[in-house]
Amino acid sequence: MAESGPGGTGGVASGKSRFDDIYDRPDPRMYFSRLAPLEYEIPHHAQPVFRQAAAERAALDDGGPSRPAVLDVCCSYGINAALLNHDLTLAELYERYTSPDCQKLSTDRLAARDREFYAERRRPDAVPVFGLDVAAPAVRYALEVGLLDAGFTDDLEQGPPGPGLRRALAEVGLITLTGGGSYITDRTFTALLDGARRPVWVSAFVLRTVSYHPVVRTLAAHGLHTTLEVSRTYPQRLFTDERERRYAIATVRALGHDPAGREENGRFHSLHYESRPVAVSDSAHREPR
Ligand SMILES: C[S@@+](CC[C@H](N)C(=O)[O-])C[C@H]1O[C@@H](n2cnc3c(N)ncnc32)[C@H](O)[C@@H]1O
Repeated sequence: MAESGPGGTGGVASGKSRFDDIYDRPDPRMYFSRLAPLEYEIPHHAQPVFRQAAAERAALDDGGPSRPAVLDVCCSYGINAALLNHDLTLAELYERYTSPDCQKLSTDRLAARDREFYAERRRPDAVPVFGLDVAAPAVRYALEVGLLDAGFTDDLEQGPPGPGLRRALAEVGLITLTGGGSYITDRTFTALLDGARRPVWVSAFVLRTVSYHPVVRTLAAHGLHTTLEVSRTYPQRLFTDERERRYAIATVRALGHDPAGREENGRFHSLHYESRPVAVSDSAHREPR
């Protein structure tokens, strides 16, 4: 695997457009409205992968007193939790939150409707999901509408977990990540794994503009073996402009990837990494270079 380059997990991506203003709204409408024209789609690709990982992890008897929880890192408004535990697609979420009807509602009214909406679509195999994100309003919304069983806003890039997250980490069996690889580094993973008390698996979709190598090393130090799904990449979203396109192409090249047919065609692409204790690693994946 190539060493961390520009935008690597050693630092926040510099040439990538920022969306800070849509991360901490009181509800998800602006998030979906801004990302719809950019065709942000990585939670859609992660949905079947996370469902399978969650089912396999739930089937593993680790001797714990309760079902292991999924911790979705950079959870935002609970999108991965929605797709994991409910009969729903990302396209339906886009439709819901960008519809003209939905724009007329107050946040309280939308939250009340969402509570019902998600409850009606809850899957029988739903697993406990915790969320971690520095955007407090987004986490609050996800909790309010019933997508998360617990939510935390600790910034593990800056300091250790507080008592609430520390207690929750003892229950976590699977960590999931989409869209956050440019924001969090091995510091966050070190804090999470240090706090784990049960075997923890990690399923992460990370932009090709980011080196996951520091995280892979951290996970290895905690007894986890990481494999990279080699058969494909996953389109994440359209570039916002030509500047971002040039940045992405140069960065993936610097990290040893070929942008032809992928970033050169106008979109960010992600890679899927799975980390599990050595004995249960998946043979369909291979060692990251
Ligand atoms: C692109 S969004 C991804 C949201 C969601 N996972 C998805 O794929 O739709 C990135 C998220 O990372 C969060 N974030 C940024 N820095 C963070 C940190 N240090 N710890 C946890 N979350 C962070 C942001 O608040 C934002 O909600």
